[in-house]
Amino acid sequence: MATVAVVGTGRMGAAMAVRLAGAGHELVLFNRTRSRADELAGQTGARVAGTAAEAAGGAELVLVSLADDAAVSETYHGPDGLAAGLGPGVVVLESSTIAPATVRALAPLVGERGAALLDTPVSGSVPVVQRGELTVLAGGDAAALARARPALDSFARHVFHLGPLGAGATMKLAVNSVVYAINQAVSEALVLAEKAGVDRAAAYQVFAGSVAGAPFLDYKRDAFLEPATTPVAFTLALVAKDLELIGELASQVGARMDLAGAGRALVAEAVAAGYGDRDLSALAVLLRG
Ligand SMILES: NC(=O)c1ccc[n+]([C@@H]2O[C@H](COP(=O)([O-])OP(=O)(O)OC[C@H]3O[C@@H](n4cnc5c(N)ncnc54)[C@H](OP(=O)(O)O)[C@@H]3O)[C@@H](O)[C@H]2O)c1
Repeated sequence: MATVAVVGTGRMGAAMAVRLAGAGHELVLFNRTRSRADELAGQTGARVAGTAAEAAGGAELVLVSLADDAAVSETYHGPDGLAAGLGPGVVVLESSTIAPATVRALAPLVGERGAALLDTPVSGSVPVVQRGELTVLAGGDAAALARARPALDSFARHVFHLGPLGAGATMKLAVNSVVYAINQAVSEALVLAEKAGVDRAAAYQVFAGSVAGAPFLDYKRDAFLEPATTPVAFTLALVAKDLELIGELASQVGARMDLAGAGRALVAEAVAAGYGDRDLSALAVLLRG
């Protein structure tokens, strides 16, 4: 079992930390808002570090799960930053959803400490982590990924190695563009059926059980049917961030993404209307009016 530093104990980082602890790994936690890490330490028996550098020092693996590109860049740099604490042979698993260019830009900083950087963004949400069924989309050195596999396997069912550093981040944006298209399609079609007089649960059952059915429909069932009482798994603010990243990548490589463009406009409207902290399925609540 490895000593694993978990940097960022938000929804995903915390859920992954619980699975790592359950598998017997020794944990060190760091979070910008310390109280969040302290609470998690109570549940997992982990130690809490005062800085990202302290968390990384002595760890064999560092798992990072932060909100966005700015949070990631801030957390790696500086005398108290993650990179400053790294030693030779450490593997850094960058699991935040960020631009491929951002993770590639961090490679020299990590490499000069003799450590290896992998991009390992994840597909699936909190309940999927809790079941140990996450999908990891990895880019970077295969040997470093093999060293990290026992830790990743504590919360993941599939680990896809997609190519050099940045390939995981690229695929994460590609797969999220599919997820957000499904989310918007289900939100619109559910509200269409309801407004036309069909019972919400009956309509949802048809989506889930018909040729349109996808695993997303099963695990978002409670969120769509009981939006007021189902815990938030993934916020619309993060969806808005991802749709911007998808748009930027599409322009860089010259890919046409009409659905993502429509999604960006609707999600921006939802965030402006105060839905930023709500689950992505709350698009249906917005559309219900
Ligand atoms: N939730 C999901 O279903 C899901 C699924 C796949 C991928 N992801 C991705 O995983 C990442 C984390 O998502 P999440 O849902 O766990 O988000 P979250 O619950 O909002 O947690 C965000 C984390 O980022 C930290 N953070 C934010 N801004 C920061 C800054 N400027 N400097 C340092 N730390 C900062 C937060 O620290 P504080 O506690 O101090 O605010 C917190 O630890 C995101 O990139 C997201 O897109 C999420």
